[in-house]
Amino acid sequence: MKKNVLVLPGDGIGQEVCEASLPVISAMDLPITLTFGEIGWACWMREGNPVPDQTWEKIAGADAVLLGAITSKGKAQAQQALPQPLQQKGIEYVSPVIQLRQKLGLFANIRPVKYVAGDQRPFRCCVIRENTEGLYAGMDFKGVRPAVSGWLKHPNLDKYGPEEAAWTVRLQTRYGLERLFQTAFEYARKHDFTRVTFADKPNVMRESGHFAGSIFHEVAARFPEIAADIHNVDAIALWLVRKPHEFGVIVAENMFGDILSDLAAGVMGGLGLAPSANIGSHAAYFEPVHGSAPGMAGQGKANPCAMFYTIALMLEYLGFELQAEKLQHAVDRVVRDGKVATYDLGGTASTQEMAQAIIRELLHP
Ligand code: NAI
Ligand code: MG
Repeated sequence: MKKNVLVLPGDGIGQEVCEASLPVISAMDLPITLTFGEIGWACWMREGNPVPDQTWEKIAGADAVLLGAITSKGKAQAQQALPQPLQQKGIEYVSPVIQLRQKLGLFANIRPVKYVAGDQRPFRCCVIRENTEGLYAGMDFKGVRPAVSGWLKHPNLDKYGPEEAAWTVRLQTRYGLERLFQTAFEYARKHDFTRVTFADKPNVMRESGHFAGSIFHEVAARFPEIAADIHNVDAIALWLVRKPHEFGVIVAENMFGDILSDLAAGVMGGLGLAPSANIGSHAAYFEPVHGSAPGMAGQGKANPCAMFYTIALMLEYLGFELQAEKLQHAVDRVVRDGKVATYDLGGTASTQEMAQAIIRELLHP
């Protein structure tokens, strides 16, 4: 059956890597119809809405969404940037990426990591980050409210009084954790990883850490062939740099996962190579880890590899597993070979030249 993919190129280099890499879909002759939509900063400036209604309609009709990258700013900054007539309407800015994750219920952010060229030993692993709760649940307050003043005890609070304090709550729910761990173990099984590691900090965050840990072990028991362990997130950061080949799937709550996945992208060779998938029960969108890189936009020199790897993730999700694997391997070979390389990989190739080299390698290995 034909699949509908909605492409949202977005801003800056997002547009450039989309344009360069999308010809791969027709080159592979896949039963996929591409539709295009708008998202990002230009939409915000035009109509005070970074995800226009039309785009939401298109998302509803798509089997998968492929996003380039968007430019995003803080609420106050975004508000100030708006043209006067829109500013007066007092519209609140919410990052498009956050809107997509929340409205579509995309609870898992999957970031496969692999190292294919250079002086280290090759490895692959995968960081899976919870996307909806944890330390980014949005429970972030200034001043101590009466409701918690009874149990919020800390000697530093007495120094300037409760109003001169701010606090963030880490929310861990059984609902959120069960589906996260289930996804992590299923991912490991499907991709032949023999180990799932839960990166947390149970020796300091005792209640939420032990609660999450017990659910991790419950889920792990359903996957007896996969080794399951829990380690402190700081130790994992160290070992990801020193011995990345010892890991399989690393799963973590929102903030820890955010940090570890950027670290992992650095270990694999930079943002130009790192793909991601945002997965929910009924929807998914796919994007390179990098942003719109405004300083580099318009120069045609962004590395499109992250986008090609991202397309491969999407193809796998849509059921084109064989083609996904072929595409991944073609990108691996071009990166390893190094004859055609963008600036971040030590070469001088343009976005287009790199993309064409990958498509050539895919069609004529
Ligand atoms: P960024 O990822 O856009 O760029 C950081 C640096 O990484 C660039 O200056 C460049 O040196 C390098 N880089 C990134 N992508 C590359 C590529 N494909 N090839 C070669 N080098 C690459 O992050 P930054 O500068 O912090 O954010 C810029 C804008 O993007 C901001 O508005 C930010 O909010 C947004 N952003 C959007 C994301 C998304 O669409 N999900 C994710 C991260 C940032
Ligand atoms: Mg990040």
